[in-house]
Amino acid sequence: MSRIHEALKRAEQERAASQGTRTDGTPVMDLPATESVPAMPETAQASKAAAPGTPGNGQGTPSFTTSFTFDTLLARCAQGEWKPDEKTMLFFNPEENALGTEQFRTLRSRLYQMREKASVKKILVTSALPQEGKSFVAANLAQVLVRQHGRRVLLIDGDLRVARLHSALGTTSSPGLADYLMGESDEFSIMQRGPMENLFFVPCGRTVTHPAELIANGRLKMLLQRVEQLFDWIIVDSPPAVPVSDASQLANFCDGVLMVVRSNATPYDTAQKARQEFQGKLLVGVVLNGIMRSDSYYSRYYYESYEKTARQKA
Ligand SMILES: Nc1ncnc2c1ncn2[C@@H]1O[C@H](COP(=O)(O)OP(=O)(O)OP(=O)(O)O)[C@@H](O)[C@H]1O
Ligand SMILES: [Mg+2]
Repeated sequence: MSRIHEALKRAEQERAASQGTRTDGTPVMDLPATESVPAMPETAQASKAAAPGTPGNGQGTPSFTTSFTFDTLLARCAQGEWKPDEKTMLFFNPEENALGTEQFRTLRSRLYQMREKASVKKILVTSALPQEGKSFVAANLAQVLVRQHGRRVLLIDGDLRVARLHSALGTTSSPGLADYLMGESDEFSIMQRGPMENLFFVPCGRTVTHPAELIANGRLKMLLQRVEQLFDWIIVDSPPAVPVSDASQLANFCDGVLMVVRSNATPYDTAQKARQEFQGKLLVGVVLNGIMRSDSYYSRYYYESYEKTARQKA
């Protein structure tokens, strides 16, 4: 194993022990991609505090059904009181055009363009290293997709190591994916729905010691097969691709991979290495995350001219 690989593994272990903070690295923005997507600006800082909700689901013996309708799912899955962090869960922000929302709308259009060429429904969101914005992108992508009338979206937290999506959405982490993979909960127990219509969420579930083996045990495939027909999009969040193998395992069950690269942080070689983990998989795009607002020429141009016009009209 190379020294860099060992160092990354160590970093991942440290990340599990403490919520590590990212250090800056060499700027990289040159991943090969079949489709490029816009750069995401750095929005307001994430709130550190988790705000647990009260989905209150999933008691009793699991009942694994072969197929069910959307109405059954609506009736049986838990309606929770999510308390999303409005600073980073952009479409829960009362401000309609919060910074970053337009980039997510553009990303959505790119995905629909891609869908014209390939059958893409289940998308794995990943990146090379920790703290590059995978969960941020996965959650906001799910939200922007569900904003279109009648669309149904399932967001799955596939990071069974250091899951944080439930905190960002302000809900509980369990029961969730790990419980399902262990055969201890059924589909209805692990799915939550919150205040946004047609957005469903499977949290990470209980803490487990062998996530890679669980992901590969066949039950995730079964889950996706059972629910796939009910949703227009399924977005799967993942751990970083270089230090651990979970993301490449998860990609086996998805139609495409969306790669997040952190501006001024992800080293070029590491991003390349992450790309190699998904050889043979459809790369649906690359998101350049965390650019400074001043880096975004087109956004600045747009905002400035828009503001000028608004001033002239006033
Ligand atoms: N564009 C952005 N604007 C504002 N905050 C962001 C942005 N991207 C990420 N963040 C914040 O940075 C932190 C790390 O992001 P996130 O949790 O999405 O990274 P990650 O790649 O999923 O990390 P991990 O590998 O640990 O799961 C979070 O607090 C998140 O809210
Ligand atoms: Mg994450």
